[in-house]
Amino acid sequence: STSDTIAIHNRTFKRDDYTNITDKIISLSQKRLHIQPSHPLSLVRQRTINYFYKTFLNSRRNPSFSVYDNLSPIVTLEQNFNSLLIPENHPSRNKSDCYYINREHLLRAHTTAHQAELIRTGLDNFLIVGDVYRRDEIDSTHYPVFHQLDAVRLRSRDQLFPNDDALSLFVSDDTTCIPGGPMKQNCHTLEAFKLMEHELKTTLVGLAKELFGAEVKYHWVNTTFPFTQPSWELEVYYNNRWLEILGCGIMVQSILSNIGVNDRIGWAFGLGLERIAMCLYKIPDIRLFWSTDSGFLNQFKVQDLNQPKSYKIVSQYPQCIHDISFWLPDDSMNFSSNDFYDLVRNIGGDIVEQVSLTDQFVHPKSDEYNNAVIKLKRAECTSDVNTDINEPLSEAPPKKRQRFKPRKLL
Ligand code: PHE
Repeated sequence: STSDTIAIHNRTFKRDDYTNITDKIISLSQKRLHIQPSHPLSLVRQRTINYFYKTFLNSRRNPSFSVYDNLSPIVTLEQNFNSLLIPENHPSRNKSDCYYINREHLLRAHTTAHQAELIRTGLDNFLIVGDVYRRDEIDSTHYPVFHQLDAVRLRSRDQLFPNDDALSLFVSDDTTCIPGGPMKQNCHTLEAFKLMEHELKTTLVGLAKELFGAEVKYHWVNTTFPFTQPSWELEVYYNNRWLEILGCGIMVQSILSNIGVNDRIGWAFGLGLERIAMCLYKIPDIRLFWSTDSGFLNQFKVQDLNQPKSYKIVSQYPQCIHDISFWLPDDSMNFSSNDFYDLVRNIGGDIVEQVSLTDQFVHPKSDEYNNAVIKLKRAECTSDVNTDINEPLSEAPPKKRQRFKPRKLL
């Protein structure tokens, strides 16, 4: 559009030479898939939250972690980059990688964008879940909008060393540190660092076991982030391949000191919900998460969040609905709609997603019944589903009267 402002989520922004957000991306930013009940991304979110709730209880046996899944994806460059010490020249700031609204605002590129503001409100243990935006090619594993879950845990000296007054978090005479390396930050004592590393890693291995099963194979890989040091990635072996599921590390101390927190040390991690959901539920294409097709969504309406679930492919073709009506034969008193459902199921197989009785009619003069019955969804389907609905039946269809078996009334 040619207007010099952009309206997004009831706010108006001035366009400038940084603006590269599109109407399509704005429309996706309203969807909030991660909080749609029984959406597969929502299942991974809820399982992860439940794990944190039960793993970290405070002295009154309430969950220590609080959850923020409703924060606006519109953030400032200060939130997304500066507060996390991401350098001015860092490639992640490029216009070619981010959706900028203008020079001051962008759609968050990671949920880590909110960690400083939440710490500033006084929180020590929290999870952030939300949609994140990165310009990317579109294929089966990349989409410019995806979803992340971040966590932060801050610990005071008394919490970390409740039984030993002699131990401390910080080395008082050394606040410098060599950024980026695999070493602990110089300002941290070895004992504080080791305890934090241990808690972080056992927490995340516990999460991997919760999601992928107690027997899951995993390993740690050293990496770097501008906002944690040292930093690691956790990889799990699942469905015959190594899968990087999260990045984490000990928070760079100056992030905390910049917002006035001088008595705590922290760990943080961030994970991508799509990748885990694709792996856990065998969802072959990242674009499916945006499907509004009930053939996709209904598969994830599970009773038990933790029950294993394998996605069954549905047609690429849109659903279609057929209304069918027919007169019942003379002995129709013995007909039940279940007889018809079985007939449809028997002939149509998995192509038919749903059949329901929508109306009944009795002709006032002739006394005949008319059943307007069927909602047949999806006439076309992909190759591994039975496609021979249009083939002639191998046997001659039985006479209707035999087909509609009488059903005893109780
Ligand atoms: N924000 C990082 C990412 O998007 C993940 C991360 C979060 C790493 C917090 C360390 C700590 O890849």
